[in-house]
Amino acid sequence: MGYSLEFDKENYSVKTVTLDGQSVTYRAYENIVYVKNPVDVKRQCLNIYVPQIFYEQERVNGYTLETVPVLLPNGIGGYAPAFPEQPGKDFGGHINATFYALCHGYVVATPGARGRGLKDENGTYYGVAPAAIVDLKAAVRYLRYNKGRVPGDVEKLISNGTSAGGALSSLLGASGNHPDYEPYLKALGAADARDDIFAASCYCPITNLNHADMAYEWEFNGQNDYHTFKFEFPEGADHPTRTPLNGHLTDSQMAMSAQLKAMFPAYLNSLDLKDENGELLTLDRDGDGSFKAFIKRYVLRSAQRALDGGADLSDMHWLTVVDGNAVDLDFTGYIAFRTRMKCTPAFDNVSMGTPENELFGCGAVQYRHFTQFSLEHSQADGALAEPEQIKLMNPMYYIGDTACQTAVNYRIRHGAVDRDTSLAVSAMLTLMLRNHGVAVDYHLPWGIPHAGDYDLDELFEWIRGICK
Ligand code: DHB
Repeated sequence: MGYSLEFDKENYSVKTVTLDGQSVTYRAYENIVYVKNPVDVKRQCLNIYVPQIFYEQERVNGYTLETVPVLLPNGIGGYAPAFPEQPGKDFGGHINATFYALCHGYVVATPGARGRGLKDENGTYYGVAPAAIVDLKAAVRYLRYNKGRVPGDVEKLISNGTSAGGALSSLLGASGNHPDYEPYLKALGAADARDDIFAASCYCPITNLNHADMAYEWEFNGQNDYHTFKFEFPEGADHPTRTPLNGHLTDSQMAMSAQLKAMFPAYLNSLDLKDENGELLTLDRDGDGSFKAFIKRYVLRSAQRALDGGADLSDMHWLTVVDGNAVDLDFTGYIAFRTRMKCTPAFDNVSMGTPENELFGCGAVQYRHFTQFSLEHSQADGALAEPEQIKLMNPMYYIGDTACQTAVNYRIRHGAVDRDTSLAVSAMLTLMLRNHGVAVDYHLPWGIPHAGDYDLDELFEWIRGICK
């Protein structure tokens, strides 16, 4: 039998939330299991929220209950399991996209998803790749299947996520309806409907994981000190504590850094990326070239916006400002200013133990490698994930594949002082999308570290623009 995939219009409660002096009343349809045969009912469910005002007047901002776009924010972080997001505040104390959307008259559908670390009674890790993307697709299929019954226009689904959630948002956008995911969706009893979406908003996407180590060293090679944080969850606390953790790369890590950096140009050049003028973007053996110039242009644009907003950047000695114009930057100085966060390799650790090693686990094996390089340098006698599992998590393989429908609109934000992944990662994603006809609003906001949802006014301005 399994769970019903028919949306029940009558099964809601009316709630009011007040934050920072702003109140919104909404219908809450919560914990709707979105597949017939879930393996984790607490995660494979979604919440649908509808501003109450839609039941009091026919139109809100020109939209009816049938035509209003639907924001699809995922709360995924660190590739960990996620519950559906509720209207509220994030860890930083800022209102989240769900609350903002409701206040501004949008329907919100927030999916939960499985993630790394989930283990069943047989000792099987059931949240490994591709579980999270399969779950997000199943949630989209549920909404599509219930077209006309669920509130909102299911042809105007706009995904949003940060970091690992940004990566999954980019993958959800890229791989719509691709047959690769079909067996996984079938096994869960996902609704028989399409899973492509209209638009994807991606904050600092930790994506393209199997090329992220070389991209990281392309950027941070030569920075041999790392500055990171140790996160701990004290008993009973709902927030992790964050302690600074500083260190120096070992000789072997420095040697790997140089090797990985040297591998990046061949990968980048294989993508045949072109800028808006049709100019091929490449890198030479030393990692210099037009692709690097492309990233520099975006950092300069970011500096310019900061200057235009009145910021004083005179301390940034790596930046050349002439008459209020950011005209040049010394890339090495800029990277030294950002500092290195992760040791080498940044994602596929040769000793295992990263979130990404765990993402690519399998069965009872908690951690696996996902690059040939780290397999060959493994200090953990680690196994390599199957190429299919690695492919299923990487949007770069799906953009341009005619077997899928990629979202026609993207918004990608990567803070100009983010160090969790290389700026090359979001730049390659942006270029790959643009080269295949996708409209991408790309920006590296000044002074922003690894974070998301910090510019909700602008995010929703973009949403208004693409939905016009
Ligand atoms: C996240 C951050 C990381 O540095 C990473 O490697 C994976 C995920 C995150 O914040 O989601």
